[in-house]
Amino acid sequence: MVARSGPARERRLARARHRAAGRRSPLVLLVLLVLPLAASCGEGGQGGQGGPSALAPAGFGARRVAGLWWLLFGISAGVVVVVTVLLLWALARRRGPDVKVRTGQGNRLVVVLGVAVPAAILTLVYAVGLRDLEALSDPKDPGELVVEVTGHQWWWEVRYPENGAVTANEIHVPVGRTVHLRLRTADVNHSFWVPQLAPKTDLVAGRVNDMWVRAERPGAYRGQCAEYCGTQHARMAFEVVAQRPEEFASWLAGQARPAPPPADARAAAGRKVLESSSCASCHTVRGTSAAGRVGPDLTHLAGRRYLGAGTVPNTPGWLGGWISDSQTVKPGNLMPPQPLGPVELRALIAYLETLH
Ligand code: CUA
Repeated sequence: MVARSGPARERRLARARHRAAGRRSPLVLLVLLVLPLAASCGEGGQGGQGGPSALAPAGFGARRVAGLWWLLFGISAGVVVVVTVLLLWALARRRGPDVKVRTGQGNRLVVVLGVAVPAAILTLVYAVGLRDLEALSDPKDPGELVVEVTGHQWWWEVRYPENGAVTANEIHVPVGRTVHLRLRTADVNHSFWVPQLAPKTDLVAGRVNDMWVRAERPGAYRGQCAEYCGTQHARMAFEVVAQRPEEFASWLAGQARPAPPPADARAAAGRKVLESSSCASCHTVRGTSAAGRVGPDLTHLAGRRYLGAGTVPNTPGWLGGWISDSQTVKPGNLMPPQPLGPVELRALIAYLETLH
């Protein structure tokens, strides 16, 4: 028996390997395509008010962005399908390693699919993007509600010039009405982002940036600072609470009023603690002698859902912990630990709980 010669055997083996690889590759490709899709299924798209997904819009700005996102997604999916089909077709028609590549052919295909089609698609996307940018700019609505928002490390000051109401980390808006947000910063740059209502707008030192939102339905929409601004950037959250117009009107009127007088002896003692301790040098409670401007206005603190800019829920327990030593909850914030005795602390909590 004569041993087969080297080069012929090599070629045979190469062809066999090539065929085996050809059978495997479509399968590998399919797996590669499906994996990322499967991985992204778990979260995100849920409507609801809990998940701040830009793909569950509740305002005209976010609706524009979501539309643009789906357009880009559709185009990308189309490109993936076309390229995959062409690739599979080429793999199926493959005739082995010995076929000589003929150069100079297919130039027209490259020009059409590689230049003309992408140019047309990108021009279309650019035009749609310009249209959306225009739609996000000043809607010139004479009935707009102006809200002044100032970013601080790391919380949000909210003012309603219409009646002088001041609050923090919670922006109430009436459903269906255009709200003109005037965005400033007291220190470093921040970025205002409520994914379900509108795209981001930066708060830039030394200037005022404007944006307009209009909530389509009632709900609490989570917002987040979207520009790194220091160690507690991640805990610089807030909520936009969209209410029916009559509910909003009553909320706004309530926020402009001074704090209610203490209802009982313990609350009265708590108010004394507030006015005599260092609380008063940083916080304002309108209607008392506390008039500090460093931290959030606490006049209607009890009505807010969170403490520390979305950090912990506003419950008596968390409030006590926050007052005693907020540094354990949100290290680096400006509020120092308060060395209050248990009786004073309980009285202070009791008073703050009455501030609706
Ligand atoms: Cu403010 Cu990040």
